[in-house]
Amino acid sequence: MKQQKTYLVTGGAGFIGSNFILYMLEKYGDDIRVVNVDALTYAGNPENLRDVETKENYRFIRADITDHAAIGAVFAEESVDIVVHFAAESHVDRSIADPEVFVRTNVLGTATMLNAARAAWEKEDGTYLPGRKFLHVSTDEVYGSLPEDGGYFYEDTPYAPRSPYSASKASSDLLVKAYTETYGFPANITNCSNNYGPYQFPEKLIPLMIHNALEGKKLPVYGDGKNVRDWLYVVDHAKAIDMVIEKGVPGETYNIGGHNEKQNIEIVKTIIDILREELPEDDARRAHLSYDLITYVEDRKGHDRRYAIAPDKIKREIGWEPETMFAEGIRKTIRWYFEHEAWMDNVTSGAYQEYYEKMYSV
Ligand code: NAD
Ligand code: TYD
Repeated sequence: MKQQKTYLVTGGAGFIGSNFILYMLEKYGDDIRVVNVDALTYAGNPENLRDVETKENYRFIRADITDHAAIGAVFAEESVDIVVHFAAESHVDRSIADPEVFVRTNVLGTATMLNAARAAWEKEDGTYLPGRKFLHVSTDEVYGSLPEDGGYFYEDTPYAPRSPYSASKASSDLLVKAYTETYGFPANITNCSNNYGPYQFPEKLIPLMIHNALEGKKLPVYGDGKNVRDWLYVVDHAKAIDMVIEKGVPGETYNIGGHNEKQNIEIVKTIIDILREELPEDDARRAHLSYDLITYVEDRKGHDRRYAIAPDKIKREIGWEPETMFAEGIRKTIRWYFEHEAWMDNVTSGAYQEYYEKMYSV
């Protein structure tokens, strides 16, 4: 039997992690084994993996990435070839309200993962077992904020994080870089722009607006609505990660972006337009669906004005480029939320209500 390559995915029950696992198991089938380590915080949802949870080559382990003993046990039990490290606290607004958990998970958790992987992979002579790699999934927010009138983030753009979230991610990136320099540790870092697609928790702009619009609730746009994000369809991101694992030069960083800059207000209007096109004429949810739902609310503290990635290096060196046009991706995403009402009802019951009331007064 062919040797299975084992991927240890952290945070695989979250938005991007679950899309990545589904993509990989679909692409490679039984040629790979996936071990998903996730603490199942508010953002983790094992339901996302329902289609694969009974497969023999998939294993879920509930564990916190800051728990040395639990993470050590995973490496002792599994012959891990590749770590794909998604697990993190990921929401800027939550980081503004409560920064400490971001430092714990994003910085200490990354240190725990790096140490455990190094202990498992480093040989006595200081070199590493062949074929091993640690892929650290990060964000373009580490580079700070761009002016409205131009410029892009490149791999050598100086780090200038401005929110507790991006500061914690920048710290974790620097730790990974330090491990590659100090210990010759085989790692890549990917810094990606904003993702959208199925299974995204409705605290983030796109699923929050879809959910509110379907419920006839106000659509809270921060500040003047002209902040710009560079949106990438999540499956394109999953594909990029797979390609960097396969082709990335150890120690290198690759920026991943959609070449798809949009102002927030454009996104919100597009969602309303598509919902009006897609909902049947007699659907009661059409009643309140108009731009009148848009409500400008107080701006986010320290709100980064614009993000934009130039994904030139990954195109040149790895051969990856974004495939899903925004018009197609956003329609697919909106349809997915339509077809998965139970998923949305489930994640928005309980603690979500409390979060929403605390965060938004509209
Ligand atoms: P998410 O919030 O949807 O999922 C995070 C997952 O990590 C959840 O399943 C959660 O249960 C798990 N987790 C949190 N703390 C944990 C802990 N201490 N131990 C174990 N598991 C824990 O996040 P996402 O949007 O899927 O983002 C995944 C990664 O990609 C993050 O590292 C994020 O910084 C990065 N990223 C996200 C985006 C984006 O647009 N969402 C863009 C670029 C990079
Ligand atoms: P978000 O999805 O939280 O991602 P990030 O802050 O990591 O880029 O927000 C995307 C943009 O949308 C950001 O400029 C903030 C804005 N936003 C709103 O205007 N209203 C909202 O309710 C949310 C959640 C975000």
